[in-house]
Amino acid sequence: MSLTEIIFTKICRVHDIDEDTGKRFIINETEIAVFKSHGKIFALSNICPHQQTALIYDGIIEDGCVVCPAHGWKFNLRTGNKKSGSRGLDSYEVKIVDENIYVKVVPKMVNW
Ligand code: FES
Repeated sequence: MSLTEIIFTKICRVHDIDEDTGKRFIINETEIAVFKSHGKIFALSNICPHQQTALIYDGIIEDGCVVCPAHGWKFNLRTGNKKSGSRGLDSYEVKIVDENIYVKVVPKMVNW
């Protein structure tokens, strides 16, 4: 098992995601929206900070941003920040190995 497979979670193959669309995944109990745009893969939180809806994966892509389908807030695909530059969605590191997509999501810590 490679280091990538230990730290990152394999979610699917690059061709499983169509250009300018997103898919929803759950990794370590975290909702992730994964997009392909201009052939690049991006991973963001799937939970919109506006009303906590799990719809980001279903947003349209325009100008390097994903648009939340509920009320139109825009988030940068690369950083997750709002169009204004303020903090928006968490973004996750992505690696492509042999056409497989790996996403780094640290498990949520349990605090007793
Ligand atoms: S829930 Fe996303 S913009 Fe309102």
